[in-house]
Amino acid sequence: MRIAMIGTGYVGLVSGACFSEFGVHVCCVDKDAEKIERLKRGEIPIYEPGLDDLVARNVAAGRLSFTLDLKEAMQGVDAVFIAVGTPTRRGDGHADLSYVYAAAEEIAANLDHYTVVVTKSTVPVGTGREVESIIRRVRPAAEFDVASNPEFLREGSAIGDFMRPDRVVIGAGSERAAEVMRRLYRPLYLIETPIVLTSLETAELTKYAANTFLAAKITFINEIADLCEKVGADVHDVARGIGLDGRIGKKFLHPGPGYGGSCFPKDTLALVRTAQQVGSPLRIIETVVDINDKRKKAMAERIVAACGGSVEGRTVAVLGVTFKPNTDDMRDSPSLDIIPALQKAGAHVRAFDPAGMHEAARLLPGVEWAKDAYGTLQDADCVAILTEWNEFRALDLKRVKASLKRPVMVDLRNIYNPEDMVRAGFSYSSIGRPGKAKAL
Ligand code: UDX
Repeated sequence: MRIAMIGTGYVGLVSGACFSEFGVHVCCVDKDAEKIERLKRGEIPIYEPGLDDLVARNVAAGRLSFTLDLKEAMQGVDAVFIAVGTPTRRGDGHADLSYVYAAAEEIAANLDHYTVVVTKSTVPVGTGREVESIIRRVRPAAEFDVASNPEFLREGSAIGDFMRPDRVVIGAGSERAAEVMRRLYRPLYLIETPIVLTSLETAELTKYAANTFLAAKITFINEIADLCEKVGADVHDVARGIGLDGRIGKKFLHPGPGYGGSCFPKDTLALVRTAQQVGSPLRIIETVVDINDKRKKAMAERIVAACGGSVEGRTVAVLGVTFKPNTDDMRDSPSLDIIPALQKAGAHVRAFDPAGMHEAARLLPGVEWAKDAYGTLQDADCVAILTEWNEFRALDLKRVKASLKRPVMVDLRNIYNPEDMVRAGFSYSSIGRPGKAKAL
C-alpha cells in the first residue's frame, strides 16, 4: 500500500515512520524546505526515543521518503493523511483549522484517482465534512472519501503507542474507505487490537472525549491531593485504593503541578468552545480548565512557602522544565508559569533539563542554565523538581544537601519518599502526602 502524510510534525512524522514499519510506502510532505532537507539527511527535528532508528531503517528500505511536492507524494496513493497543526486560535480558544483546510485545497488540486483523505490531526466535530465539501467544491467529479483516524500517541512513548495501541478509532465516510483503512491497519488486526469503526463525527468527538476525560482524571487526583494535605491522608494510597477498582483504573492518577503539553490544554479548551457553541456546555471540563490554570500558578506559591515565605534575593534551583520526561517539548509546561512567578517574587532561578533547555532558554528569559542536575544546586536556597526525569530520581542526597545553602526540596512530582528525605535531613514537601516539612 502507499500513503502520503501531510505534515512532518510530531504526529505526522511518528505515524508516517510507523506505517512504513508496517510495510506501507509512505511519502511525508511538508512546506518547510529546511525541515525536509534535514529529514532527508536523517536528522530528526523532534526528540522521541527510537524515532531516529525507525526513520533510518525505513528510509534505507525504500519505504519512507520526504518531499516538498504534494503532487509527487500523492502519486498512486491509497490514502492521504492530513497531520498538520491545529493550534488554539488566538482570542477564542477554538482550534485553528486554517492549516487543515489549506491542506484540503491542495489535496483537491492533486487528486487523480480514488483516494481516501484521512484527518489525523485532532479536529473538532464537523471538520471531516468540511474537508469533504472543500474538495468537492474544487473538484466536483473527483473520486474520494473522507475518513477520520485520530491518534492517541503520548510523547516519549509514541512509537510503542502506535505499534501496540489500546485501540484504533476510524471514522469512515463509506465502506470503500473503511476497507482501505482496514488494510492499512492489518498488522494491528493480527495482534487483535480492537478497532472502533464508526462515523466521521463520532471518531472526531471520541478523540476529544478521551483527552478531556484524562485531563479531568488528573485534575481530580490533584484536588484530592490538596485535600489529603489538609486532612493528613496520603494521595498515593488513595490513588491505589481507588485505581484497583477496574471501573476507575489506576493510570493517570498521579498528582502533580497540573497537566501541560501539546494536547490536553488545547483539546480541553477546544471541546469547551465546541460544546458552548452548540448549546450543550461541558461544565465539568470548563471547571477542569479553570482548576488546572490556577494550579500551575499556585505551584510557585508552594515553593515560596517552602523557602519560608519569601524568595526575594534567593536562588531557586529547578530540575526539569519540560511538561513531562522524555521529551524536549515545552508547550504549556507548568514551568512556564512557575519560573516567571518565582522571578517576579524576586528569586534568581537556576535550572537544568536533560532535553528541553534549548527551547526553554527562548521562552524563559533570565534563567541561568546549568550543565547538569548538580550544577543547579550550588548555594541555592531550595531545589524544586518540576519534571520527573529518571536521572532526578536517584540523586546523591548527601551531595545535594552539601551543595545547597539550605536543605529544602519541593518535589512537585513525588519522586522521593517523604520519610527518607526527612531522615536525610531535608525540609521536604511534595504533593498530597502527609509528614510536615521539617522546620528550618
Ligand atoms: C496526551 C495523551 O495521553 C495522548 O493520548 C494524546 O494523543 C496526546 O495527549 P501527552 O501530552 O504526550 O499525551 O502526555 P501524557 O503522558 O498524557 O501527559 C500529559 C500531561 O499530564 C503531562 O503534563 C503529565 O505530567 C500530566 N499527567 C499525566 C499528570 O500530571 N498525572 C498523570 O497521572 C498523568
